[in-house]
Amino acid sequence: MASAPLKCCINPSILSADFVNLEAELARISNADAVHVDVMDNHFVPNLTIGLPVVERLQKVTPVPLDAHLMISDVDRWAPQFADAGVSSVTFHVEASDAPIKLARELRARGAKAGMALRPATPVEPYLDMLSEVDMLLIMTVEPGFGGQAFLDVMLPKIRRARAAIDGSGVDVAIQVDGGITEETITRAAEAGANVFVAGSAVYGKPSPAAAIESLRTNGQLAFTPAAATQ
Ligand code: DX5
Ligand code: ZN
Repeated sequence: MASAPLKCCINPSILSADFVNLEAELARISNADAVHVDVMDNHFVPNLTIGLPVVERLQKVTPVPLDAHLMISDVDRWAPQFADAGVSSVTFHVEASDAPIKLARELRARGAKAGMALRPATPVEPYLDMLSEVDMLLIMTVEPGFGGQAFLDVMLPKIRRARAAIDGSGVDVAIQVDGGITEETITRAAEAGANVFVAGSAVYGKPSPAAAIESLRTNGQLAFTPAAATQ
């Protein structure tokens, strides 16, 4: 358990939405904390989604902040443009960045929150010293590239170590988890120390995405405060 009270944030991934009706799909998740937008280039990951022009349009049709997850190569070159487009939070993969500290500073200078993402096989330890340079650490809980995969429980110790490092150093850094988050797995991820949860199929795969967001939020928050649940 983390020492400070955590707020549970639910960021639905529009990767599981209907790409033909994105404006309507965004309207169905107006109670989300942020909209998770998966940008893939068919190079860093074996899948291709949307790029900056579509993200710029999404930005204009929803009041919910955008949380862009860039699964792209040469991210040092492209990520700042997402910040310039007004994207609230821009997350790059450390495996794709030549200069992650420089990039994080550039994103912040352009008014965005900076997020740093780790593939499942990338250890967190080499990056602990630069936590103060970012606003969010994304620990992937599936191999990036596709929605609908099963949550990797073997990532729980990494989440715990990251939470201990963040609480120990007192930096204000959120821990986001992405991949396989459901009403069941969110509890384990939250207990390990994550506080921002991406959910694609567990939101858009339900008849009411808005109700799914509320259930996920309730379960995540309960995992932070188990004592309160019994009062
Ligand atoms: C996968 C993406 C995820 C994906 C999650 O690479 O980064 O954001 O949409 O989908 P679910 O929640 O279905 O695992
Ligand atoms: Zn994602």
